[in-house]
Amino acid sequence: MKIVSGADLQPLNTLSVPASAAYYCRIHNAADVPAAIAYSEQRGLPRLVLGGGSNIVLSDDFEGLVMHLLIAGIEPDIDGRAVRLRVGAGENWDALVRHCLTQGWYGLENLIAIPGHVGAAPIQNIGAYGVELSSVLDSVEGWHLPSGEFRRLSRDDCQLAYRDSIFKHALRDAFVITHVNLRLSSEPRVNTGYQALAAALPADRDPTPQLVADTVDAVRASKLPDPAQKPNVGSFFKNPIVSAARYEALRAKHPALPAWPMADGRTKLAAGWLVEQTGWKGKRRGAVGVHERQSLVLVNYQQASGGEVLALAEDIRRDVLKQFGVALEIEPRVY
Ligand code: FAD
Ligand code: EPU
Repeated sequence: MKIVSGADLQPLNTLSVPASAAYYCRIHNAADVPAAIAYSEQRGLPRLVLGGGSNIVLSDDFEGLVMHLLIAGIEPDIDGRAVRLRVGAGENWDALVRHCLTQGWYGLENLIAIPGHVGAAPIQNIGAYGVELSSVLDSVEGWHLPSGEFRRLSRDDCQLAYRDSIFKHALRDAFVITHVNLRLSSEPRVNTGYQALAAALPADRDPTPQLVADTVDAVRASKLPDPAQKPNVGSFFKNPIVSAARYEALRAKHPALPAWPMADGRTKLAAGWLVEQTGWKGKRRGAVGVHERQSLVLVNYQQASGGEVLALAEDIRRDVLKQFGVALEIEPRVY
């Protein structure tokens, strides 16, 4: 493993924010992780563990060590219908989903076309179209900084929830994921409950996993901009979760507000709808703007800084708070 000083981070973040790293290394083997950590500790450098850079906002140059996790490998272990996969953190998530479909390993269809690397998937428990990583995650392996050893964490240990995990709380910046273990099946079982997916599936065909994947792919392409053309990090805000009483009060005033009941009795609100009502959808301000087909997506049109994108997000947050009394939370990690 080579550690270089000075690296351009603009091509390594899908928001295409101009920024540099003081130190940078590519990690292709799990054994390189403790070596990189030791290097940063000896020099008192902060660390940024980087995957595909599709869920970070760089508000400035990073004056520390960027550890770019590029560990490869997909190792299947098949027992009857059960398919266990051990996947390197550096594998591309979407390529993994497509590979699994060609192999007849099912469970990831609804999560097609999510950018980024496999190692980042547990961080926010990626989810889309009615499925979250939590439904297929077996365990994660990685370097546990508090103990200074490699550890395996079970799915329960990861404390996965909507866009949340232990890696954002007790183990924030304290666990470097090197491998993700998934539990799939060769039995085709589809999940078509998400309203926008159900509505887009052809009524005259039985939904196979491939058809579900193709439909999700098409729905996503119809509303989410390709970061290569319009730099973005997907949803900039989480869907807020409120108490049942709070939801009832909001619904009385705004009957059209889309919302979903949660297992714990609370209600998840559509942040995109809230933002759209404030009039921000499709608006452009200088080099940044709000996507015209999905108001949760902020676009960096002209190499704006992370600060400019965050300033726009703050104004949107303020307007939603003023109009609805609901505080939106930023989804990507800000550095
Ligand atoms: P990065 O941006 O590189 O990192 C994100 C965070 O995870 C950082 O804090 C980083 O330090 C940490 N991290 C990364 N790798 C590791 C590791 N190996 N060990 C420890 N920490 C690590 N997300 C969804 O959930 N659902 C969607 O439908 C969805 N759609 C999107 C659409 C678009 C167009 C875009 C641009 C993004 C979308 N996202 C979505 C967000 C993003 O794709 C996911 O959060 C993804 O998992 C981020 O992966 P990454 O490798 O790019 O992570
Ligand atoms: N909506 C609006 N206006 C908008 C956007 C959405 O009114 O501008 C309404 C829609 O009409 C719909 C509801 O909000 O009634 C939900 O919209 P959509 O299906 O597009 O999903 P979302 O809640 O806006 C979430 C995730 C996405 C994920 C999709 C599909 C979050 C923060 N975002 O978006 O994830 O792909 O569901 O499951 O939970 C991401 O995390 O980066 C991301 C793209």
